[in-house]
Amino acid sequence: MEQLSVTKLAPAEPATVSPPAVEALPTPALLLDLDAFEQNLAKMATFLRRKGVALRPHAKTHKCPRIALKQMEAGAEGICVAKLTEAEAFIAAGIRQVLVTTPVVDLLQIRRLMTLVKSAPDVTVVVDNPANVDALEEAAAAAGVRMPVLVDLDCGAHRTGVAPGPASTALAQRVARARALRFGGFQAYAAHLMHVVGYDDRRRSELEALDYALTARRLAERAGLPVSVFSVGGTGTYDVDCDIDGVTDVQAGSYVFMDVMYRAIGGRASSVYDDFKPALFVLSTAVSQPVQGFITIDAGYKAAAADHQPPQPWNLGDVSYQWAGDEHGILTLTNPRREVRVGDKIRLIVSHCDPTVNLYDRFHVCRGDQVVDVWPIVARGALPVTAAPGGDV
Ligand SMILES: Cc1ncc(COP(=O)(O)O)c(C=O)c1O
Repeated sequence: MEQLSVTKLAPAEPATVSPPAVEALPTPALLLDLDAFEQNLAKMATFLRRKGVALRPHAKTHKCPRIALKQMEAGAEGICVAKLTEAEAFIAAGIRQVLVTTPVVDLLQIRRLMTLVKSAPDVTVVVDNPANVDALEEAAAAAGVRMPVLVDLDCGAHRTGVAPGPASTALAQRVARARALRFGGFQAYAAHLMHVVGYDDRRRSELEALDYALTARRLAERAGLPVSVFSVGGTGTYDVDCDIDGVTDVQAGSYVFMDVMYRAIGGRASSVYDDFKPALFVLSTAVSQPVQGFITIDAGYKAAAADHQPPQPWNLGDVSYQWAGDEHGILTLTNPRREVRVGDKIRLIVSHCDPTVNLYDRFHVCRGDQVVDVWPIVARGALPVTAAPGGDV
């Protein structure tokens, strides 16, 4: 029998696996730059803490429990969500203090909301009409819970909310009278002012809008209703909101990522609003160059929100983006900082962070040029629940 020669192997060294390079990702991919993200997270948390105002970040921006948990660790007192299905996703991940910032009016959804309140009693919802108060009261009583409710104020956007004044007091009193509801105060989000261009105009408009909204607080208190929450604002006005007497918390969302739309509104001292850093990018690949001076990338409408401005190539010099279709964008190479060739990976600052995030299943989290983690966008596409025919939800 043939003798087998056995080579003695040295004891195995622990394998050193280097994290994958961003450049190696299949594109289009959504990138979260961890350094910029962490700076944004800390900056907003520290700023508001020093001002003595709470942060209740809007989680519709990221739809990601990993990020919400980091916001809570940094000191947020709770989170906002836009709808019930987002609330369900975040509560399942262990976050209990959730404010639903849009009225929930569908009866099936109201029932589901009460199921959530049973397990997370701080879940709060906004209302802006009497019939909705009655429906919530009936469902809360039937579920045996006492649900916290804020009255939503229309401070000029005419999107949701009741006008501050007699109507807001009447609604607050209706909530306070409802035995299965608990009146907590008001929400006053001036959606039409977040992107006012120019710091001084934005500040003046927000001060006016919130002075008007705070009428609701004054009238409610005069009517004997204690107001513990007056929740306002967003990324565009956080540093105005925090100095207004009577405001308790700020609902900023986009600050964690920033986007082209926010950068364009201008800051206190510069034409670019740069209080927070761009942290969210779409990574694309240059796939074709039919014409010199232009190059086509694999990121079109399906890769980036297209509701206002286009995304912006990052760190490439004078290069702009134009939409070319579902799958493609064309870059105009006016004065690029470096040569851009087919096969190159190109980062784009997202044009509008919320709807762009909703196109992806995960963030590729990176430090510099290395991917260090993957965070699932759990509430991505979470649409309102509907009943199955003949069935319960
Ligand atoms: C009710 C409400 N609050 C807060 C925000 C957060 O605003 P931003 O992302 O501009 O910080 C939004 C965003 O649309 C909102 O609808």
